[in-house]
Amino acid sequence: MQKNAIKIFSPATIANVSCGFDVIGMALERPVDEIILRKSSHSGIRILNIHGARLSTRPDKNVVGVVLYTMLNQLPNIKYGLEVEIFKNIQPGSGIGSSAASAAGAAVGANLLLGDRFTTTELVKIAMEGERFASGIAHADNVAPAIMGGFTLVRSYHPLDLVELHVPKNLWATVLHPKIEIKTSEAREILKKKVLMSDAIKQWGNVGALIAGLYQENYELISRSLEDVIVEPVRSILIPSFYKLKMECKKAGALGGSISGSGPSVFMLSCGKAKAQYVAKCMDEIYAKLGIDYTIYVSPINSQGIQWEWITE
Ligand code: HSE
Repeated sequence: MQKNAIKIFSPATIANVSCGFDVIGMALERPVDEIILRKSSHSGIRILNIHGARLSTRPDKNVVGVVLYTMLNQLPNIKYGLEVEIFKNIQPGSGIGSSAASAAGAAVGANLLLGDRFTTTELVKIAMEGERFASGIAHADNVAPAIMGGFTLVRSYHPLDLVELHVPKNLWATVLHPKIEIKTSEAREILKKKVLMSDAIKQWGNVGALIAGLYQENYELISRSLEDVIVEPVRSILIPSFYKLKMECKKAGALGGSISGSGPSVFMLSCGKAKAQYVAKCMDEIYAKLGIDYTIYVSPINSQGIQWEWITE
């Protein structure tokens, strides 16, 4: 089969899984972006169409283009160009990894088209350049789970050291996306530059226990560990009714949750689909009264990460 065109399915992701600011991320089954990549006899990169979002089709001003340039710069012998079509189902600025889906999808797709030349860690590094372009910060806690699936831990950024974590079978996520804008760069600026030793102790206790909880499929331990004493108290002021939402969702049966990425989305984890759907109802009741437009997603954890199919033309 000629492998000249590929369709990539790149999932939404939740970064900063509660206590894991910048280091723990997870992939969702939905929503999912689609990206079509084709080899072209014209050299260079051309973004032909973007459906579902208003983003620049200039490759130097688009996350997909920036990632493709980053990859092609490492492969000086490639003689053909790339054409791209993007279908955005993950709204930019939602806090569920829209730029990451574009960046990771471009990296994985181009790598497959160009003969599978990069390791997973190299692909994450390349995709991180898309994140740097989008927000000024080359964080990996969205692109790593998008590429690797499941829960991922960034043990170290320098050098990049990624760890895949266990996904408990019954874990589901409910995500509320309030349609307000929070820029990642601004949500980082408001963070304190120093943390108290007493907060750091609580935080690393929670990170360790969360990971143990995932491996043991111990939902009570996961629930106790979903506590962020460093970032959430600062960023939550940007999200209307955040603490009410969190409290009511936990009363409705959620294990716990926090801000998804840098917001505005809020995620809750639950044991089982029925509870996750009940939590969605609870979110709906609270947000319906606020007069803010919103979308709610209920999704299992996506253990596979990015998927693809070859296109025969
Ligand atoms: N870890 C990043 C941040 C995620 O919170 O700034 C952004 O989606």
